[in-house]
Amino acid sequence: MQCFILLFTHMSDGIPELPAYDDAALEKAFAALETQAREAAAGLAGEAALEAFRLEWLGRKQGRLKGLSDRWLKAAPATAKKALGLRFNALKAVVEQLLDSALGASPSDAGLKAEAIDITLAGTRRLTGAEHPITRTMNEIVSVFAALGYSVGVGPEVETDFYNFESMNFPPGHPARDTQDTLVVANQERKPLRDRLLLRTHTSPVQMRTMEQQPPPVRIVIPGKVHRNDAADATHSPIFHQVEGLCVDTGITFSDLKGTLDHAMKALFGSAVKTRFFPSFFPFTEPSADVQISCIFCGGKGCRKCKQSGWIELLGCGMVDPAVFAFAAEKQPAYDPKKISGFAFGMGVERIAMMKYGISEIGSLYAGDMRFLNQFA
Ligand code: DAH
Repeated sequence: MQCFILLFTHMSDGIPELPAYDDAALEKAFAALETQAREAAAGLAGEAALEAFRLEWLGRKQGRLKGLSDRWLKAAPATAKKALGLRFNALKAVVEQLLDSALGASPSDAGLKAEAIDITLAGTRRLTGAEHPITRTMNEIVSVFAALGYSVGVGPEVETDFYNFESMNFPPGHPARDTQDTLVVANQERKPLRDRLLLRTHTSPVQMRTMEQQPPPVRIVIPGKVHRNDAADATHSPIFHQVEGLCVDTGITFSDLKGTLDHAMKALFGSAVKTRFFPSFFPFTEPSADVQISCIFCGGKGCRKCKQSGWIELLGCGMVDPAVFAFAAEKQPAYDPKKISGFAFGMGVERIAMMKYGISEIGSLYAGDMRFLNQFA
């Protein structure tokens, strides 16, 4: 029984008996096989058909070439082995080549085609990302204060009238509100004024949010985006960024404010930079000051950039107004202006970035032009 099955398998593998080992017989036998292979390969379509062809001819166990090797090569007398081997290898090369070209040509074989790679093609270059100059400047400012022990806070961009104005000591109807032309959220009229939503015009409201959350001492910087209803020009944008600072503790004085900001400006612009403090007004600080730094372009001699003055105005600051502490004390009684004091400051990030990197148009910071941004990569 077993014998019969073996015989049957041999008969079905499509390999005829080899009548003789002379050149003519070999030529005829191999030519016949090659013709069969070419006919089978012609018009092969689809993954399944290709695989069937591969298995039939090149399959390791049942493939015809394996059968040939077993039945012709191994059985051949030593004198015929070389000639047989050469023809065997030639046939194998033909079959492999047929399979390769069928793989490449098969139109329905999108999967295999997609997997094929052409290693001679140039590679795809992936662009490396980089910090945007605004983010970079903001991080730099924040890290100067982080090194002094300040923590970092954030607050919402859609803010209430209370936090943006009232708690910062801009009472309803106060003319100081007009200094920050405000974008308000529509349809809020039915709410009490203090609850109406607006786009924050400065990062100062986060001073109040911070104090409500924690008793003194506080040392915090708050980087963030702010919005104003301002027309865009070379140096103004209706959306820009600020870094706010707040320090509250016992015995904080104006000298602490001056020392801190003088250090920060030297850290940001170089140790040769000098600072000076000019009287100013902000509702939430008393006294208030504008900080000027000696012109980083001319060293203070006077140039076009500093309008021949030798000084450039850079930020606002002051001692926290007791009226602001009074609002904070509603939630955190420890903000008692008789026991604690503090200073605050706020600076525009774009202005500092433009000075540091010599950018003349604020709009180039928002245009997303890679030729501009690549310079910071
Ligand atoms: N919030 C002010 C503005 O946007 C900037 C500012 C000035 C913030 C003085 C402060 C400060 O904290 O003390 O114009």
